[in-house]
Amino acid sequence: MKDLFSEIQALKKSKNAILLAHYYQDADIQDVADFVGDSLDLSKKAAATDADIIVFAGVHFMAETAKILNPSKKVLIPDLKAGCSLADTCPPDRFRAFREKYPDTVVVSYINCSAEIKALSDYICTSSNAEKIISAIPRDKKILFAPDKNLGRYLAEKLGRDLTLWPGSCIVHEIFSEKKITQLKVRHPAALVIAHPECEEGVLKLADHIGSTSSLLKFTQTSPAKQFIVVTEAGIIHQMQKASPDKEFIAGPPQNECSCNECPYMKLNTLEKVRDCLLHEKPELTLSEDLRVRALVPMQRMLSLS
Ligand code: 13P
Ligand code: SF4
Repeated sequence: MKDLFSEIQALKKSKNAILLAHYYQDADIQDVADFVGDSLDLSKKAAATDADIIVFAGVHFMAETAKILNPSKKVLIPDLKAGCSLADTCPPDRFRAFREKYPDTVVVSYINCSAEIKALSDYICTSSNAEKIISAIPRDKKILFAPDKNLGRYLAEKLGRDLTLWPGSCIVHEIFSEKKITQLKVRHPAALVIAHPECEEGVLKLADHIGSTSSLLKFTQTSPAKQFIVVTEAGIIHQMQKASPDKEFIAGPPQNECSCNECPYMKLNTLEKVRDCLLHEKPELTLSEDLRVRALVPMQRMLSLS
């Protein structure tokens, strides 16, 4: 493990590469990364870097976003099969047909979607800035929100806006059990429940705090509470524990006995694959210039508003 760490560090240095990792990555990948963050912070980091190579330890749409923002840089992803169940619920041909049914509507898409869906959108948002982006759209405009129906429903209720929702969801966030979280709360009465807005309505109703991964992390640092039930992908607990070693973090329980609170796509990346992709400079993420330019427009609107 130590050898792999030093190999990765040496390769990053010799190739002027930056390693970006999402909070849902394995702890060892987070520890060797140059920057660990949520989707918004990672996009900002990708937009600002002067590295020649960006290695994106996350999922496909995140690496694609880095390429949209950095056409001249080589963007590598440790495993090209690291997709996203939520992005997969929104195929471009069906989304185009859906969008055509609502002609005078502003399309806001959550960043967890393909470049094709981004290119069909007016604005992109992440869970960190979604409230800000939607609030920037005049109230008399109709809004179509894709692809996450849970985040969309949460935003509609919070902002008092009538959003038309694409019926997508994430397999990790919709598997959390309302019943088991309630039982955990009884066993740990002092624990606060913190949840990502991709979770279903019943689960969000149990939460003391709802937010993006970075918002959840910050909440655990600033709250005086000593125990938290963490209802999102379990990888984030690594940073929570590092930042607050005296606090206890209980992973939110899924409805079954498997480790379904781990994203199977995020977990395809390994330290060995990070080393190999730096060494061989592949798999590389590529995009046609036409698609990239069309997907860039709503991304830039998001970045200028955040
Ligand atoms: P964040 O932007 O909150 O990190 O969310 C990313 C994600 O994929 C949630 O499933
Ligand atoms: Fe996609 Fe869900 Fe994994 Fe996030 S946790 S990358 S939304 S499958």
